[in-house]
Amino acid sequence: MTARPPHVYVSRALPAPGVGPLLAAGCTVEHRDVDSPPSPEELRAGVAAADGLLCLLTERIDAPLLDAAPRLRIVANLAVGFDNIDRAAAAERGIVVTNTPDVLTEATADLAWALILAAARRVGEGERLVRSGGWTGWSPLQLVGRAVGGADRTLGIVGMGKIGLATARRAAGFGMAVCYTSRTPKPVAEAELGAERVDLDELLARADVVSLHVPYSPEAHHLIGAPQLAAMKPTAVLVNTARGAVVDEAALVTALRQGTIAAAGLDVYEREPALAPGLADLPNAVLLPHLGSATVETRAAMVELACANLVAVLHGDPPLTPVDPLGA
Ligand code: DGY
Repeated sequence: MTARPPHVYVSRALPAPGVGPLLAAGCTVEHRDVDSPPSPEELRAGVAAADGLLCLLTERIDAPLLDAAPRLRIVANLAVGFDNIDRAAAAERGIVVTNTPDVLTEATADLAWALILAAARRVGEGERLVRSGGWTGWSPLQLVGRAVGGADRTLGIVGMGKIGLATARRAAGFGMAVCYTSRTPKPVAEAELGAERVDLDELLARADVVSLHVPYSPEAHHLIGAPQLAAMKPTAVLVNTARGAVVDEAALVTALRQGTIAAAGLDVYEREPALAPGLADLPNAVLLPHLGSATVETRAAMVELACANLVAVLHGDPPLTPVDPLGA
């Protein structure tokens, strides 16, 4: 009897190169080629005979789902974040979890800067004004924002991992000082950028722009809530390209409404795609639909990496980018 080729369930439509790398490596593939999340029932049915799963951050991978997948050896998440996956449950069942780090670092840092500039310079408000037909011409009083750059401006990076560092590097072009929080000192950021490691209270008090780059974990839940927003400068901008629940979105709505801080730029939300009540009505919130990694080049690299992880594990090799079952 010949061995059955490894079988992979792919839960969503993928950008190029799609499932090509899996087919080229001799896997059989059930591709749910639909650009919306599967229902829990569809996902359960999909994984029932699968040796590998390629899934997205919109899919919840928990113990009951893994129990419905007796053959599963790898869950390859098409994201650097993996808070949608119960890593402990996977480890208990001997299932490898992988993510897509590095390949999306620069794209996400670019988007953080798009939000920093858009929020500080009121780009969203200006765009809406022009499109509405309500613009009556240049005025010295119109939509005056805040300068982002200059030696008297500080970027505060909360979580100096790879994306935090890439975001901080871009601040050099704006002549900004950089301070950061991190569990461990980051010698590269300190040597290269003169970045100063401080605690969160000090960062919030000092920074003109606070940019969030911590992975989501129970400890990071609502890391930025009402007290932290109150500790920021009233002229400051908050940017979140990490995970929505790092910020207490209801508290942020209140802070933006009351002028506790000047503006926010958000790419991620606590209950995506839903927004906290009132958020969409705030002129000083720039709101994007989770676009951090959304470039053609980055998405292709994410698909390549997720497929390479699947092929490696399903052929008995070590994964390229495993997620630590216990680490942050
Ligand atoms: C991630 O990778 O975790 C982003 O949020 C989506 O690319």
